[in-house]
Amino acid sequence: MTVVTAGGTALVTGASTGIGAQLAVDLAAQGMTVGICARRAERLAGVLEACRRHTPASRSWTVDLSDLDAIAAFGARAEAELGSIDLLVNNAAMPKRRFVTALRDDEIDDPIRLNYLSPVRLTKAVLPGMLARGKGAVVCIGSVAARMSPPGETSYSATKAALTAFCEGLAVELWDTPVSAHVLHPGIIATELFDLPDNDPSYADDIEALPASAVTEALLEQLASGAFEAYVPSWFADIASGKAANLDGYLSGAAEYLRAKQADGDPGES
Ligand SMILES: NC(=O)c1ccc[n+]([C@@H]2O[C@H](COP(=O)([O-])OP(=O)(O)OC[C@H]3O[C@@H](n4cnc5c(N)ncnc54)[C@H](OP(=O)(O)O)[C@@H]3O)[C@@H](O)[C@H]2O)c1
Repeated sequence: MTVVTAGGTALVTGASTGIGAQLAVDLAAQGMTVGICARRAERLAGVLEACRRHTPASRSWTVDLSDLDAIAAFGARAEAELGSIDLLVNNAAMPKRRFVTALRDDEIDDPIRLNYLSPVRLTKAVLPGMLARGKGAVVCIGSVAARMSPPGETSYSATKAALTAFCEGLAVELWDTPVSAHVLHPGIIATELFDLPDNDPSYADDIEALPASAVTEALLEQLASGAFEAYVPSWFADIASGKAANLDGYLSGAAEYLRAKQADGDPGES
């Protein structure tokens, strides 16, 4: 039974832009009261207004989720003000595109704090309430990079692999409870993530970018089916299983792709 029902509640992190903003509005359109959070109040305000057209009790909080010491209190506040949290979507994250030889220490530490430690702490804060109420789902927005670490994105990919591993074990721990855990891996989605400063250009510029609404569609399908893991688009699951079947073949193919891109002088643009 899906937790996405009219009258239900959802907390979506990183909902001022991109996938999180789209998810928040789409969940509100399903009749869910949605709590959204991010750092930029003015961007959150527009998303909240769109949510409130569907569910007037939706609300927002301006928070920096990389402040780990504040996460437990934020989770408690969100739960108290929403009345419950049936669905937690751990979506907020930062990219990091940099080759290892050029990676600064803060470019290793900051993504692990925001993309891994923060959602783990928020999950811990929200899970007891879900278990007590006998209802809930935690969805972590991973990345195809969690299962197939691309060159130039090792720091980011490691955070998503860690989050995926966390979620996998959590799903098993929760197996016999009414609460479930899931991971949803977007491929390339058209968002501002590719325009953020202090990142090298992306090597994924020849993969078609899907709209953020494709992530909502996948999430609704995943929650309805109860699947632990899903990819957007779904054909990335075949690449992941092909990789698992022949890891060295996959890596040499990826190295060939990188060589060809670099020979072309690509990527030239971010
Ligand atoms: N776009 C893709 O192709 C793609 C592919 C694979 C995975 N993903 C994943 O999808 C999720 C959403 O990414 P997106 O593409 O929608 O990127 P985005 O448009 O850059 O959205 C990121 C969101 O996270 C928030 N955020 C960033 N730092 C934060 C902080 N310290 N505290 C609180 N909120 C913070 C941002 O809001 P503020 O700046 O206002 O704080 C924003 O709302 C991420 O987990 C990303 O890794 C995206």
